[in-house]
Amino acid sequence: MFVISHVVALSNNNVIGVDNDLPWSLKTDLSHFKKYTTNKIIIMGRKTYESIGKPLPNRVNYVVSQTINEIEGAIVCNSTENAIESAKELCSKENLNEIVIIGGGYLFRDTLPITNKLIITRVDCNIDGDVFYPDIDLGNWKKLESIKFLKDADNDYDFEVITYEKIK
Ligand SMILES: NC(=O)c1ccc[n+]([C@@H]2O[C@H](COP(=O)([O-])OP(=O)(O)OC[C@H]3O[C@@H](n4cnc5c(N)ncnc54)[C@H](OP(=O)(O)O)[C@@H]3O)[C@@H](O)[C@H]2O)c1
Repeated sequence: MFVISHVVALSNNNVIGVDNDLPWSLKTDLSHFKKYTTNKIIIMGRKTYESIGKPLPNRVNYVVSQTINEIEGAIVCNSTENAIESAKELCSKENLNEIVIIGGGYLFRDTLPITNKLIITRVDCNIDGDVFYPDIDLGNWKKLESIKFLKDADNDYDFEVITYEKIK
């Protein structure tokens, strides 16, 4: 079975983005993101791709868009379903077993029903934003691990990285 995961950082009030950017600077969380996604297949929405500005190195980058046809260094698909199907085929071919959805709001909402692993960075703040992570019923999820980090010169807020797997 394939693992389809979300890697997401969200505030206490579920904000994930503002003005097509992240609402915080959390250097340690970015390192965690890089470490978790490296050598994996990642899928993102067009706006997230534009906010990052380039394909992320050492990962297979899928971008979902109906307005962009081609990106050098990324595979562009015109629907989330096509991206997932293509990523699954690639997984089988390359002997990989995880597809990581990295955002943003559209992509997380589209794929939550087929997601079986969540790697959530819970950022300890209530903050204004314009993109939100969907409400999830954590009763359907089992916590596997959680690691706490404290606010410091590199990180705007305290945060906790929590890994959940879907209860079958
Ligand atoms: N905190 C986090 O962990 C995190 C992670 C990622 C992103 N973000 C933030 O989230 C924000 C961006 O998220 P967003 O929700 O605005 O946009 P998004 O999901 O990144 O991208 C939306 C775009 O993706 C394409 N798309 C999405 N679903 C589609 C579908 N089913 N079929 C075809 N195309 C589809 C469309 O592109 P076209 O218009 O080109 O057709 C759509 O406009 C930014 O603020 C970013 O910084 C936060």
